[in-house]
Amino acid sequence: MDDTPTLATRAVTAGRSAQGSSLAPPLWGTSTWQTEGLDDTRKRALGMRAADFYSRYANPTVRAFEEAIADLEGAEDALAFASGMGALASTVLALCSAGDHVVAQRQIYAGTSAFLIGPCARLGIETTFVDGTEPGAFAAAVRPGRTMLVVAETPSNPRLDLVDLDEVGAITGPFTLVDSTFATPIGQQPLRHGVDLVLHSATKGICGHNDATLGVIAGAAELLDPIWAYGVLHGASASPYDALNGLRGIRTLAVRQRHQADAALHIAEALRDHPGVAAVHFPGLSDHPQHDLAVRQLSCLPTVIAVDLAGGVDDARAMLDDLRVARPATSLGGPETLVCHSATSTHVSVGPDEQAAIGITPGLVRVSIGLEDPDDILADLRRAIPAPG
Ligand SMILES: Cc1ncc(COP(=O)(O)O)c(C=O)c1O
Repeated sequence: MDDTPTLATRAVTAGRSAQGSSLAPPLWGTSTWQTEGLDDTRKRALGMRAADFYSRYANPTVRAFEEAIADLEGAEDALAFASGMGALASTVLALCSAGDHVVAQRQIYAGTSAFLIGPCARLGIETTFVDGTEPGAFAAAVRPGRTMLVVAETPSNPRLDLVDLDEVGAITGPFTLVDSTFATPIGQQPLRHGVDLVLHSATKGICGHNDATLGVIAGAAELLDPIWAYGVLHGASASPYDALNGLRGIRTLAVRQRHQADAALHIAEALRDHPGVAAVHFPGLSDHPQHDLAVRQLSCLPTVIAVDLAGGVDDARAMLDDLRVARPATSLGGPETLVCHSATSTHVSVGPDEQAAIGITPGLVRVSIGLEDPDDILADLRRAIPAPG
């Protein structure tokens, strides 16, 4: 019998190796440590992720957060950053040079695509975007000897399209990276599918309280060490205060995620019958085109649904103005139910044609289901969504 503790148990036990008998993790709110002479300083300055030197290099509170994420993802190690974008930018720039090629998913967080299209292209790193829901699309776009990195995001922001993790994990040659923010480690563990790196905007469900901005990647130490060496110079290092909130969030992650995912499914099913709703996108729905993949791949559903309003942008505006329980705001995974209009918020940098191509219709609103009573959330959304006529 496999007696490995489950994810819910590990969420409570992980990342405690340096906290002694204290139940709560200590906050190392220092930027620097006192050294003892030149030889000692030199040793610390040259050490890989050297402890007790300078917080941009390593910090014990941040290290505890990294240890917890590595445990949950089944990774050898993890590396935290100041944000999800800090993690993404540092990783791409650590692994890719001028002349290299990246394959990335078209349905992706707009900050990620903007980074690849803008600064990366300017630095001579070319990206090919592919439909991540199309079987074989990532592998077909790989240019042997030139493609350095494959970037997938599943479930994707904002429509929760899924990518087959086995397919990404089977790609040989380039490094493979999966942004698993919408799943959290409770929903899936991409490394178990052969993927090289998993990335999270821990700002979302992992921290879980809308009070921290934090990113993290996890994978083999051999791959993380050069990313760390670049990251020290890039400077998007995680704050120990945010890492503390990350650890606090991890302790309750499994319970929050399961509760919010159950509520998301309940609300997604109920909203389909609303006369003002053209479509609800949620892979937990039995008629979702990727439901079979969701069943195979996700150990817990996501906590976000995407609702396409029949009346387009006018209905979206009216809905956001009329919320009483939910709140208009970007971000997700926190205790408050948040509603955002994708075309004018998270994906505002994406042109109208590309928005249409990736299913971001004028009426698409993303709803992050919070911890309020699911029936109160549902009643609020039902009332706020305008009915036709
Ligand atoms: C899927 C995904 N990845 C990355 C990011 C960037 O994370 P952060 O805002 O922590 O930089 C976001 C932000 O919304 C996201 O939704």
